[in-house]
Amino acid sequence: MKKVFLFLLIITGFSSAFGQTAETPSWAKETKEQKEKRMEWWTHDRFGMFIHWGLYALPARHEWIRHNERISDADYQKYFDNFNPDLYNPKEWAKKAKEAGMKYVVLTTKHHEGFCLWDSKYTDYKVTNTPYGKDLIKPFVDAFRAEGLRIGFYYSLIDWHHPHFTYDGIHPGRPSTPEERAKANENRDMNIYRKYMKDQLTELFTRYGRIDELFLDFSYPDEKGHKDWDSEGLIKLIRSLQPQIIIDDRADLGNTEWGWDYVTPEQSMPREWPTANGKRVPWETCQTFSGSWGYYRDEHSWKSIHQLVTMLIETVSKGGNLLLNVGPTARGTFDDRANNRLEGIAEWMKLHSRSIYGCTQAPDEYKVPDNCFLTYNPKTKRLYLHVLEWPFLSLYLPGYEGKIKYAQLLNDASEIRYRTQKHDDSTPGDVILSLPTARPNVEVPVIELVLE
Ligand code: GLC
Repeated sequence: MKKVFLFLLIITGFSSAFGQTAETPSWAKETKEQKEKRMEWWTHDRFGMFIHWGLYALPARHEWIRHNERISDADYQKYFDNFNPDLYNPKEWAKKAKEAGMKYVVLTTKHHEGFCLWDSKYTDYKVTNTPYGKDLIKPFVDAFRAEGLRIGFYYSLIDWHHPHFTYDGIHPGRPSTPEERAKANENRDMNIYRKYMKDQLTELFTRYGRIDELFLDFSYPDEKGHKDWDSEGLIKLIRSLQPQIIIDDRADLGNTEWGWDYVTPEQSMPREWPTANGKRVPWETCQTFSGSWGYYRDEHSWKSIHQLVTMLIETVSKGGNLLLNVGPTARGTFDDRANNRLEGIAEWMKLHSRSIYGCTQAPDEYKVPDNCFLTYNPKTKRLYLHVLEWPFLSLYLPGYEGKIKYAQLLNDASEIRYRTQKHDDSTPGDVILSLPTARPNVEVPVIELVLE
């Protein structure tokens, strides 16, 4: 079931970017240059932290647990009654994110379970009514801002707790037959739920200062899409409260030019830079350490530091951003596996962030050498060669003759000498980098090429 929905999600994430362009409402008018300006920091920064935190941290076996195990509201209540993250110290989280080189953070203010991490006026299903008893978001926002990170909010369009969110095919409390479901839905009024979302988003966007990214999640248009959410109304409201905000593509407005800013391939790596109507579009892939987003104690499919660093590089080499997720425990901490991954990334980023920030896909004239990912900084005109497999002495750069002024290892700024090998007179020759025999002792070595 979960797989099917993940698939659907990927499809909606991508296909939504295609199709007809509906007319732009007057409040949404923006020139291409204005949009680029609005997204400038995001395109530059490339790397953010996603945080999935909610009641599901207690059962610690997937944030979709209510759905996966068909848990009723009554049976889920024990997690609410025991929610008390006594070790919560967002300053520590923020420090770790910063050290890992992340420049922004996106927090689940409310996930599909409906539990709110702030003191919302519009529900009792919120952190301030748990044993913990305090707003989690204000200290979070303050801590990350103090470390210089930008703040983003995730807000689930889906809500399995709200009494007026209608039963559908994924609702954990759904009656089993379509007839029973229709009957039960007679007492549910999505108008009320739509108003609830607007009220809550207004709270979130007026209480915590400037918010830079919004991750609305998610639509499944054959059951719930933009009409059910009043996506147009939501986007209009959000833009009126936070005009500079950057919004994802999951509100089912993919066929408009104004209802989304970037596409969101999830838990997979696109083969190439995603496009819409034939044009490359801004994209941010969100990825997990181990498969689930919420803290999952017994999950053993953790990615290695090497995989994660490579994932970041590959994303930037295709012009995208990476939003890498941590699922904090119910005590309010990052567990040792998450810390280990973040520390490994931090170690690499300390020496190599220059090949990530401000970088993008290299122009086509630079062919990608074997076993490498290329990134390119258009401002400094430097090319970064991420060498995944360290070759023996010679690294061939096909057709690079006349393009390079200087080459060095990024980790220690030590010169890499090179020579040219001509094939014939009509095409540029190859450049052969003379590598040291010993692979530099870093997760992924990078050679910086200063271009002519
Ligand atoms: C999916 C999942 C959700 C997760 C999200 C992250 O929509 O439903 O659990 O929050 O992807 O992108």
